[in-house]
Amino acid sequence: LHVQGNIIFTPIILDIPLSCSFPNPCKELASHLGLDPSFTGLFVFDVGGKDWQFYDWSKVTTIATFGKYDPELLCFAHSKGVRLVLKGDVPIVDIVDPANRTAWINNKVTLAKKQFMDGINLDIEQEVNKTSPEYWALTALVKETTEAFHREIPGSQVSFDVAWSPNCIDNRCYDYAAIAESCDLVFVMSYDEQSQIWNECIARANAPVNQTLMGYDDYLKMKINPKKLVMGVPWYGYDYVCMELTQKNVCTIAKVPFRGAPCSDAAGRQIPYKTMMKQINSSMSGGLWDDVQLAPYYNYKDIKGNIHQVWYDDPHSISLKARYIKDRGLRGIGMWNGNLLDYSNDTVARQQSTDMWKALIPQEIPLVP
Ligand SMILES: *[C@@H]1O[C@H](CO)[C@@H](O)[C@H](O)[C@H]1NC(C)=O
Ligand SMILES: *[C@@H]1O[C@H](CO)[C@@H](O)[C@H](O)[C@H]1NC(C)=O
Ligand SMILES: *[C@@H]1O[C@H](CO)[C@@H](O)[C@H](O)[C@H]1NC(C)=O
Ligand SMILES: *[C@@H]1O[C@H](CO)[C@@H](O)[C@H](O)[C@H]1NC(C)=O
Ligand SMILES: *[C@@H]1O[C@H](CO)[C@@H](O)[C@H](O)[C@H]1NC(C)=O
Repeated sequence: LHVQGNIIFTPIILDIPLSCSFPNPCKELASHLGLDPSFTGLFVFDVGGKDWQFYDWSKVTTIATFGKYDPELLCFAHSKGVRLVLKGDVPIVDIVDPANRTAWINNKVTLAKKQFMDGINLDIEQEVNKTSPEYWALTALVKETTEAFHREIPGSQVSFDVAWSPNCIDNRCYDYAAIAESCDLVFVMSYDEQSQIWNECIARANAPVNQTLMGYDDYLKMKINPKKLVMGVPWYGYDYVCMELTQKNVCTIAKVPFRGAPCSDAAGRQIPYKTMMKQINSSMSGGLWDDVQLAPYYNYKDIKGNIHQVWYDDPHSISLKARYIKDRGLRGIGMWNGNLLDYSNDTVARQQSTDMWKALIPQEIPLVP
């Protein structure tokens, strides 16, 4: 745990405001700095390092920090009125007991206060059976975490990450309606949508437009308030080795079972957007577009001669999904994760990264912070 007083800032690139200097930096909560209500709710996952310097700070409203605690990031975020939230993950079996649950929550609240953070993102992607003890405990965890944070850190935000659809994806049979009701927002992870392939074992898009939007339709059908839903889009794709590639670019993949399904995207490898952008122009196929899934892909041959098919999201496919936010009045959008773009000084890479940030808000839709 960092002790604030021991941190010495070296604000070379950033214009760190005086309020962030030694000895008691960033005391103010972002929520106290006043967020512009016309801001798009843009929820960014950050996994560490200094890429955050290159984020589009005119749009970001929340950063969930999944990397090491970085007081420089905290100060900068607060200077922009942006919330910084902790990561929360715990084996569900450990919090079925109410006393253990309270202990876990108190621990997180204490940590958040020590670090001057503005809330927590609960990222618990474990299997849960409907109406099992874990099912009730998980909902209680969300409710009690939200109550504790709101009480101890006024204006703080508690969010919960859910699968692309509420239909027991990967055996995550949670009480989604109650969970959404119990926290400030749910981040819908609209990716890894081929984690359970029940039909043909072939490479498909990470987040096909139609499948993605059907997931939101299903959440809304449960009477979840659209203002609780943040759309999560992937800034990564999947690289599959093809057992066979047909003339029509159908790539058969190895059968890797996952949580009861015979076949899964676990047969592929997750690849950052920046990696694919360096590879695509020299690939076998060049950039291709699938008119049904509304997603880009390409084929390439590796040094051993194996053929691969790579599926990903680009500004076009992302903007097709992001439109739904305005149509249905969702709270906002976000991505896994902010670090997957190329923020180097290369002109082409810079433009590609700028375009990815822009695609999140196609028509600069006003959303809820
Ligand atoms: C619950 O808390 C008790 C007391 O601290 C501890 O002994 C026990 O191991 C905990 N149980 C779980 C499942 O974490
Ligand atoms: C869910 O129930 C099934 C069938 O009873 C069982 O095999 C499985 O272990 C359970 N999973 C969890 C996470 O409790
Ligand atoms: C999306 O999927 C639904 C259900 O399978 C289907 O009815 C609809 O036509 C599809 N829309 C598009 C644009 O493919
Ligand atoms: C790939 O080709 C496109 C189209 O010719 C070009 O605009 C882009 O800059 C190229 N990308 C890289 C990384 O060179
Ligand atoms: C990028 O350019 C800026 C300003 O031109 C320079 O200060 C910085 O060191 C460069 N970064 C890299 C990684 O080359």
